[in-house]
Amino acid sequence: MKKIVLLLLFFVGALVACSDRKAAAIGENLYFERGCASCHARDDSYSVAPSWKGLYGSEVRLNDGSSVTADEAYLLESILVPTAKIVEGYAPGSMPPNGLTQAEAKQLVEYIKTLR
Ligand code: HEC
Repeated sequence: MKKIVLLLLFFVGALVACSDRKAAAIGENLYFERGCASCHARDDSYSVAPSWKGLYGSEVRLNDGSSVTADEAYLLESILVPTAKIVEGYAPGSMPPNGLTQAEAKQLVEYIKTLR
């Protein structure tokens, strides 16, 4: 029984890994479930934190005066280690730690990529 469950989990995991679209859909759920939605808008309607609209691939100015391209690596790092790089105009630590796994962070990144 345990083996079957594990096999099933592996199968589901493999399916998810194979499909960016599926990952993005899971990412959208995480966006609400993990509270990202209370600070990050998907449009310009509120601005507690930077909006996710058009974020992927954009040039982000940081508080140390440098700028980075918001590619997958940057987004992943920003989610997993919120204090690693701080967006210009925001105080360090204004994004709380979230305890997401690497896989969940990737799903959120896939979701952010769909927000053009
Ligand atoms: C309490 C408000 C708050 C919550 C909740 C929050 N964030 Fe943030 N987030 C911020 C702020 C403020 C910044 C900008 C400052 C910084 O860079 O740390 C930010 C920055 C980011 C960035 C970099 C954005 C950019 O424009 O470069 C990403 C990606 C991000 N957050 C993802 C998430 C995810 C995913 C969640 C949910 C698990 C989340 N955040 C939850 C406040 C929040």
